[in-house]
Amino acid sequence: MRPRNDPRQYDDLADEWWPPRGAFAMLRWIAAARRRLIPLATRTEALLLDIACGGGLLAPVVAPTGHRHVGVDLSLPALAQARGRGVVAIRADALRLPFRDASFDVVVAGELLEHVSPMSAAVAEACRVLRPGGTLVVDTIAATRWGRFSAVTIGERLPAGPPRRLHDPRLFVDRAELRAAAARHGVTLTLNGLRPSVVDYIRWLFHRADDVRMVPTRFTGGLFQAVGVKEAR
Ligand SMILES: C[S@@+](CC[C@H](N)C(=O)[O-])C[C@H]1O[C@@H](n2cnc3c(N)ncnc32)[C@H](O)[C@@H]1O
Repeated sequence: MRPRNDPRQYDDLADEWWPPRGAFAMLRWIAAARRRLIPLATRTEALLLDIACGGGLLAPVVAPTGHRHVGVDLSLPALAQARGRGVVAIRADALRLPFRDASFDVVVAGELLEHVSPMSAAVAEACRVLRPGGTLVVDTIAATRWGRFSAVTIGERLPAGPPRRLHDPRLFVDRAELRAAAARHGVTLTLNGLRPSVVDYIRWLFHRADDVRMVPTRFTGGLFQAVGVKEAR
């Protein structure tokens, strides 16, 4: 059995990214919920960096925004799937991105920060490659009792919940630390919570729908999103 948060799990689960009832079904719903936070491209050749792009689930969200979609991830099988969806997919570590400062108009780190340590180093890298005036979009899991219960204790047992042992709750994200880490690099983050629509989830359980809408909430103590614009210095 693999230890918790072993990155090889993503290689093992390489075929699970896109099927509506695959192990990563909820990741697809969460990716769709980023649509609200990703701005339209403001120039030709605008670039969006998708850090830890996985199988490229963000591709249908990025395409209509007019950005060129660049993704990095550690998992080669995941990158192959992302490439198949039109992502310019590169193998790289989120803690050491192979890009120059201020290269991207939008940087997205979706469901990454709860997998890396130190989280602040990943945030620093994301902010470094973001151009002034660009938008940072993050979603992750809060380091709270509810975060641990909803994502691990009960979450790993629910249909569409995270695969068993995918998360190590010790890496869940302290919201104040996240805000402070981004602020050090000129990005003031605004947070909102995210939960599945109960009606959609029941329909999905009974095979009446392939997708579930994720509903923004004020409670940020579980799954949450964060967005901010990098100030011009
Ligand atoms: C929960 S998945 C999220 C994938 C994608 N962002 C999404 O929301 O569909 C976490 C991803 O992070 C990748 N990952 C974990 N640690 C990483 C690191 N240090 N650098 C780059 N990618 C990493 C994994 O390979 C996996 O694809």
